[in-house]
Amino acid sequence: MGLLERRFPTEVKDAIANYPAGREASAVLRLLFLAQAAYGRVTPEAVAEVATLLDMDPTQVQGVVGFYSLFKEEPHGRFVIHYCTDLPCILRGAGAFLPEVCRAFGTKMGETSEDGLFSLEEGMCLAACDRAPMMQVNLEYMHDLTPDSLNAIVRGLREQAAADPAPAAPYGYGPPSEITEGS
Ligand code: FES
Repeated sequence: MGLLERRFPTEVKDAIANYPAGREASAVLRLLFLAQAAYGRVTPEAVAEVATLLDMDPTQVQGVVGFYSLFKEEPHGRFVIHYCTDLPCILRGAGAFLPEVCRAFGTKMGETSEDGLFSLEEGMCLAACDRAPMMQVNLEYMHDLTPDSLNAIVRGLREQAAADPAPAAPYGYGPPSEITEGS
């Protein structure tokens, strides 16, 4: 049994049970998010486990991973921040606010903070232009950012990470699960 199934046995079973026999492959996105949380990123082992669970070819699963930017194959921080730098947000001050974002998360654009918590990435339009500056943290939108609200958000994320060191299912990034082979 792989890390995904051992870390999230109920979630895996429920995801597959949502689909009729012969259509189990429809659970591939859900299982990949769970695998990402279990393995910390979508490793080749994670792809292989998802493929086995869904009776798919690993190449098909890999194709899904490559299509969606929310799946990360390289190591990332616990929280992936997509800060929107598309034109409408820039016109509403997102560019001028970017140094504040880098300061608050302790990293440069395209990099991960030294403590491994935050990976900062440029986001394309996230369909919330009227509330810029805005960002997506894992899957959660955060709007109308100010220095004060940003500091509060970062504080909250740090507290969340300290209270629950394992990445949250199903959208967590970060270090692999504490469960190890043979446990
Ligand atoms: S351009 Fe940033 S949300 Fe649309």
